[in-house]
Amino acid sequence: MKNSVTICNSIDETHLLAEQIMRQLKGGEIIGLTGELGAGKTEFVRGLAKTIGAMEDVSSPSFILQNIYRSSSQNKIDTIYHWDLYRVAASVDLAEILEGKKKTNSLTLIEWFEKSPFLNKSLDLIIEIKILEPTKTVVPNPTTVLWHDACIRQFTIRQEHRVCRC
Ligand SMILES: Nc1ncnc2c1ncn2[C@@H]1O[C@H](COP(=O)(O)OP(=O)(O)O)[C@@H](O)[C@H]1O
Ligand SMILES: [Mg+2]
Repeated sequence: MKNSVTICNSIDETHLLAEQIMRQLKGGEIIGLTGELGAGKTEFVRGLAKTIGAMEDVSSPSFILQNIYRSSSQNKIDTIYHWDLYRVAASVDLAEILEGKKKTNSLTLIEWFEKSPFLNKSLDLIIEIKILEPTKTVVPNPTTVLWHDACIRQFTIRQEHRVCRC
């Protein structure tokens, strides 16, 4: 996969990007997601889960560490492991647990991967998400003030050059 920068103007565009990225993956990849709270890390994972036809609800696994989404049909990638390290102590070494996930027909997404310094060598791809407008903008209205959610997100995709596992 090539390094790239993509602007997504809506949730649908973010889901479309997730679908395009999914098509380029082989299976077994470990992907780090970074970006402030509300940037769209979980929304991006929701797009990936939709691509494999997963039936489970997608939400940030902040307290339980891992959510699992399984494909409802035949897919090259049939399982998505969704991690969130927001509340995980930096001293916990998760690299060993991740080793077992590299050879399967699965995909592992890790929100807040930067919280664990041990993970750097385990990642295949880093996706950085930025909000390009303030989260809320005021829409003038004759009777009231409406708050409008800004939807523009910038996705920077960076391939990590760790040792080949072929
Ligand atoms: N283009 C977009 N891409 C992703 N999320 C968006 C976009 N526009 C609006 N949103 C909204 O922003 C919020 C992002 O929340 P979430 O994905 O939980 O963030 P994070 O996991 O990074 O904390 C969601 O409410 C989502 O619907
Ligand atoms: Mg999240």
